[in-house]
Amino acid sequence: MKAVVQDEYGSPDVLELRDIEKPVPKDDEVLVRVEKAALHIGDLMLMKGEPYIMRLGAGLRRPKKRIPGFDFAGRVEAVGKEVRGFQTGDEVFGETNGGSCAEYSVVPTDKLVHKPGGLSAEEAVAIPVSGVTALRGIRDAGKVEAGDKVLINGATGGVGMYAVQIAKALGAEVTAVCGPSNVELAKQLGADHVIDYTQDDFTKGEARYDLILDNVANRPLAEVRNSVAEGGVLISNSARSKGRWFGAVGRMMQAGIISMFVKAQGRPFYSQVKSQDMVDLIAFIDAGELRPIIDRTYPLAEVAEAMRYISGGHASGKTVIAVGD
Ligand SMILES: NC(=O)c1ccc[n+]([C@@H]2O[C@H](COP(=O)([O-])OP(=O)(O)OC[C@H]3O[C@@H](n4cnc5c(N)ncnc54)[C@H](OP(=O)(O)O)[C@@H]3O)[C@@H](O)[C@H]2O)c1
Repeated sequence: MKAVVQDEYGSPDVLELRDIEKPVPKDDEVLVRVEKAALHIGDLMLMKGEPYIMRLGAGLRRPKKRIPGFDFAGRVEAVGKEVRGFQTGDEVFGETNGGSCAEYSVVPTDKLVHKPGGLSAEEAVAIPVSGVTALRGIRDAGKVEAGDKVLINGATGGVGMYAVQIAKALGAEVTAVCGPSNVELAKQLGADHVIDYTQDDFTKGEARYDLILDNVANRPLAEVRNSVAEGGVLISNSARSKGRWFGAVGRMMQAGIISMFVKAQGRPFYSQVKSQDMVDLIAFIDAGELRPIIDRTYPLAEVAEAMRYISGGHASGKTVIAVGD
């Protein structure tokens, strides 16, 4: 099968399109024929092997996971003998174990759901990691209720576009922070107020929020917490923090320690995709409250280009890879 493979950590230049062996599913896994894959910042970090602390789990000298991509949408090709509820030919989407920038991949059934007929593969593939992260941030960690004032910093990227829509669906008054080219998109997503960060700095404004979901981490935590209302909380959710050794892990640890003493600092969360979360996101879609936004679609041979694009940090929605049909 064709797959994008990396033998070492580094820039997008380490990614090569090759012919490799098709994976074999374990008894509790499904083999899928991948139609679409989608990328996010976690893929970029694994490609680069940074921050270095991540290599303790991902492979010290070279990546254990050699095929980039987690999110996929496609068709079931074969099922392991313990698998129930999925059959050859089913249209599915979710998160792979083996890497989704490949014609075939293996998926555990607890990270897999049937694709609703009304959703294209391109829309479905945009859901898993980013959609579930937004759900964790807004519904689970943020505990948003109707009438809450919610600010989302980085409101139109992969996570932000879901966060805005989920917060609106839960009845919040939403302020979206984004750059000038995304102001219109933020309004279309349903934001009640939009702050263009090139014009205004929300941390210097008078407004206070019950929840701030920070997808950008471009300000010290204390500065952002200044904009949290009495009884409110800041959930810091960014892997873009600088530092080759600890990077975002350092900021997450800092937020975790502060959260033990400061009520307005929420505990950071690590988002793991589970089937039930994707079912919950489909329910928002079915209710007409949520729609995935696709920014760009690249062919499999151009995964390196797609990685360069997401490394810029200014995507408007999700970046998708067209793998097969
Ligand atoms: N906790 C977890 O388990 C988990 C899982 C997945 C992702 N994440 C984190 O979630 C964060 C967001 O991911 P993503 O995929 O949404 O990233 P993304 O697609 O690259 O989006 C980044 C967004 O940030 C905005 N932005 C850039 N500079 C900004 C600034 N100075 N002020 C305000 N907004 C700014 C961009 O808007 P413009 O284009 O308008 O500039 C864009 O909308 C990442 O840091 C990622 O690490 C966490």
